[in-house]
Amino acid sequence: MFDNSAINLDTLKKRAYNLRWAMVPEGVIPLTAADPDFPSAPAIAEAIKEFVTERYLCYGPPDGLPEFKYAMADYFLTKRNFRTAPELLFPVDSAAFGIYITCKAFLSKGDEAIIFDPVDFLFRYSIENLGAIAKPFSIPPGTNDIDFDRLEQMITKQTKMICLCNPLNPTGKVFTKKELEIFGTIACKHNLVILSDEIWSDIIYAPHEFTSIAAINEDVRQRTITVTGFSKSYGLAGLRIGAVACSNEKHYQLLFEASLHQSTVHGANIIGQVAATAALTKCQDWLAGFVSHLTNMRNICVDGLNEIPGFNCISPEGCYVAFADITGTGKNSKEITDFIAESAKVAVVPGLKQWFGAGAEGYIRLSFATSEEILREALSRIKLVIN
Ligand SMILES: Cc1ncc(COP(=O)(O)O)c(C=O)c1O
Repeated sequence: MFDNSAINLDTLKKRAYNLRWAMVPEGVIPLTAADPDFPSAPAIAEAIKEFVTERYLCYGPPDGLPEFKYAMADYFLTKRNFRTAPELLFPVDSAAFGIYITCKAFLSKGDEAIIFDPVDFLFRYSIENLGAIAKPFSIPPGTNDIDFDRLEQMITKQTKMICLCNPLNPTGKVFTKKELEIFGTIACKHNLVILSDEIWSDIIYAPHEFTSIAAINEDVRQRTITVTGFSKSYGLAGLRIGAVACSNEKHYQLLFEASLHQSTVHGANIIGQVAATAALTKCQDWLAGFVSHLTNMRNICVDGLNEIPGFNCISPEGCYVAFADITGTGKNSKEITDFIAESAKVAVVPGLKQWFGAGAEGYIRLSFATSEEILREALSRIKLVIN
């Protein structure tokens, strides 16, 4: 299932955008956007085929298809250990939009929201688009001792929200239950809404274990908005499908209003919901196989990067990206990225503020959701040119 033979490069070159195969010059290997090189699970294609065969592609309910809502509520209860309800969650056209509407629902102009640094750009982007202020809280790669005093010192009267990204893209940190308890206590003490982006929560490497912050206790659950999606675990990025879940009616109303779904100006398309429902109900064995393959790729990627002079990479606990410290090369992340693209014909993501925040400088990010052959080829090309 996850052999090199499963990868269809001809199709990827036509379909894989967002800095990937369809966007790089011939001969370049893109380890850029975190989107798998493997096709999605067969059960997803079957579910879509079955649905479209009847040829009725009518408007769906603005708050989502019942089967999607029930499957999602069951997922949060059984896999993430917290109770929401079909009436307290709805599909959105991506985790990205889920982040955006959560910020829109709870932040006004001039409000402050705490984001991690480094972290995916979507948090800062959403907050700043709404006229609010993103305050970066530094969690450098490899941090096992979070400075919670510093976090508390950052909180002012204007601070309304804390944004968790768990596991943390790009560093691959999986927050421990103890750490989440402290985040939760601080959020309760200062009356902050918690936005927890858990899109990566299926991609966890043993012995690390994932905990949803909403599962910590009742007070924390009541102030948490959980956002998730299907791009990472199931390779459904092009279907633009995710979900937003909360634990009370008041939050639900704010989120749903912010989504503009009722007016049909926005909405999650029904095929995405059918695919996501199939993913949750029929693809758990496929997902286990994918994570097992990724565990091997993670080890190969980290070992390979650490053999390159001037590179240093910690092993991610979750996510399928490696975040390598390249400061030992004497170059900055943009220079190294350009050099590797030019000389090794491998595309990676530079640790620029625009992608991950100011704390990402000195790093590059590589996705390893590919075959062993492609990954080894990319690593050996980088090693050769850096040598
Ligand atoms: C932490 C995080 N959140 C959200 C997203 C966006 O997901 P989607 O494709 O569902 O918009 C990504 C994609 O890289 C991500 O890494």
